[in-house]
Amino acid sequence: MNSDPTTDATRSERIVERAREVIPGGAQTGLRAQAYDTGDVAFERAKGTTLTTVDDEEYTDYHLGFGPIILGHAYDRVDDAARSAIGDGVLYGAGTTPLEVEVAERLTSLLPGVEQVNFCNSGSEATYHAIRLARAYTGNEKILKFEGCYHGWHDYVDVSVYPPEDELGGGYPESEGMLPSAVENTLVVPFNDREAVEEVFREHGDDLAAVILEPVPHSVGCILPRGEFLETLREVTREADVPLVFDEVITGFRHSPHGAQGEFGVTPDLTCVAKALGNGYPVAAVGGREDLLAQAGGDNESGVVISGTYSGNLPGLAAARETLDAIVEEDVQRHVTDLGDEYRAGLRDLLSDRDIEGRVVGHRSIFSVQFGVTGEPENYEDVLGLDEGRFREFAVGMRERGHFFTPNPYKRHHLSLAHGEAELADYLADADDVFGNL
Ligand SMILES: Cc1ncc(COP(=O)(O)O)c(C=O)c1O
Repeated sequence: MNSDPTTDATRSERIVERAREVIPGGAQTGLRAQAYDTGDVAFERAKGTTLTTVDDEEYTDYHLGFGPIILGHAYDRVDDAARSAIGDGVLYGAGTTPLEVEVAERLTSLLPGVEQVNFCNSGSEATYHAIRLARAYTGNEKILKFEGCYHGWHDYVDVSVYPPEDELGGGYPESEGMLPSAVENTLVVPFNDREAVEEVFREHGDDLAAVILEPVPHSVGCILPRGEFLETLREVTREADVPLVFDEVITGFRHSPHGAQGEFGVTPDLTCVAKALGNGYPVAAVGGREDLLAQAGGDNESGVVISGTYSGNLPGLAAARETLDAIVEEDVQRHVTDLGDEYRAGLRDLLSDRDIEGRVVGHRSIFSVQFGVTGEPENYEDVLGLDEGRFREFAVGMRERGHFFTPNPYKRHHLSLAHGEAELADYLADADDVFGNL
């Protein structure tokens, strides 16, 4: 592994050391730098389920780039289409391209709440655009979000995603440097709490611009919507004529070709998609009701600016078209859902056999092991108190045995079409071994 005989450091360690000189924290985000908690690591290749370091160490990847890779890394059909698009130029930046029409048509036919779409490059851009459209439509400033839901890095929404216990119930800014008025205009209540939502509508109904949520909050592992929670949101927002925004950046195309809106039968006014839309390519979209999207019609009279030099770039759109077609044609969700059920059941058995306090949460292709907590979580508060140290030990042990996932205990494992029974058997055998040493 040590490819330089003049030092004991691995190539990964030397690259990370150089990175720390020129890149804050040594990686592109603080969350990526958390991979170093299990040992400094630099990756340079990925194919199928395999992620390979600069020292040629191979891992079965359960991180999958925080979730976009639904078909497996470097999926030929998608990459071939992107390469072919690049051959015709990456970006025109004027007029319309046939590809954008093709992808927009697919999105409007797949997602029940989407009549029109605007493309962008990331989930954060999509949620930003959605909120601007909603504020323009209502003329109001306040938005309502839920504790534990992440909608991107911008000031409007980076509030109360992981608040400490003594900040529950308030607007907790996740970053320094945020605009206080943006935080003040972001109201926060617990997920699955119908009464709290109704109370906000009683108090602020006339000032609300939008309600935004992850229909299945995965930013804290997995919380499933209970009872009639999504239906209640639909009713109160419709009554008050406040746009309901489903942030389907994770759920869209990972859980169902029709998004959580198709799965749970609740149609939002605005929808944000990214991640699994392009199997790893930077492509995202905001879509929704025609009257809401029409505000961004490009005509200055109609008012809302949605802009972006790289929006609708050709390789991203080609990747999106092929990913969407593959998801539909190859029945991807059936494969990853069945496999996810097997991982969850296997892990639950292991926890119980070894009498380890903990739970396995998840939905379809996503699962998380949470130590030190039990019962089904209904909201963010139910996730607080998990044993972070034990999860890191688990992540280290699994990494030593060739399985990679982020050591952040609030995050999740992802599965792709490339994962199968062989990966499942290896994972469970090694998890059993690691659990035995915890
Ligand atoms: C639910 C959700 N919304 C929005 C975002 C932001 O997307 P991006 O990182 O592409 O800006 C994320 C990213 O993890 C997400 O999980």
